[in-house]
Amino acid sequence: MKISPSILSADFTRLKDELKAIEAAGADYVHVDVMDGHFVPNITIGPFVVEAIKKATRLPLDVHLMIEEPERYIDDFAKAGSSIVTVHVEATRHLHKVVQMIRDKGLKAGVSLNPATPVHTLDDIIGDVDLVLIMSVNPGFSGQGFIPSALKKIEAVRRMIGETGRAIELEVDGGIKVNNIKEAALAGADVFVSGSGVFGTNDYGKTIEAMRKEISPVRLKA
Ligand code: DX5
Ligand code: ZN
Repeated sequence: MKISPSILSADFTRLKDELKAIEAAGADYVHVDVMDGHFVPNITIGPFVVEAIKKATRLPLDVHLMIEEPERYIDDFAKAGSSIVTVHVEATRHLHKVVQMIRDKGLKAGVSLNPATPVHTLDDIIGDVDLVLIMSVNPGFSGQGFIPSALKKIEAVRRMIGETGRAIELEVDGGIKVNNIKEAALAGADVFVSGSGVFGTNDYGKTIEAMRKEISPVRLKA
């Protein structure tokens, strides 16, 4: 079970301190939300800032690309120091190709589904990925409420992963807090993104500890 705080909710005037703080608080990954103003309404950061983040933390960078035609930027995000690169199935016509591009760089490849995208869109790609990311909000902004129908999708994807027999991470992103993280774990998620749920609290260490306490008794179904 891994916690991946989303730096989108961090104080960007103190980014290095924020990164050190989540590292000390026991985070497993740093979730980096990249938005292009086309795939989603918001614009956030690009490879240049990802490179700076990489220099400021030892944690693996879990880079979530909410951009159209992500194939155009895989090289840049690989060079910037990403460990995991996740693309949206809705954002490219060449999903298989982009997944191969990511893996050819020696990185973990993730694919993500928006709330209304059915899980069967993963049928012919799941065998090639290292991570599936289920969006539990509409991508674009932090601080939104968890969409409950994501739980059924997580359950379905957990079953699909079981059928592959491969170790594929199942990440949930959007509206995750101490009070609902357990539901997502029970549904089958094993990587939990949380933006405002961590950075919106006073003590990141206590928050991550409380999250782990919620999810640690949960055993994943095979
Ligand atoms: C939404 C992003 C999320 C977001 C999470 O588009 O992909 O990673 O920052 O923030 P919270 O946890 O506040 O919903
Ligand atoms: Zn994200």
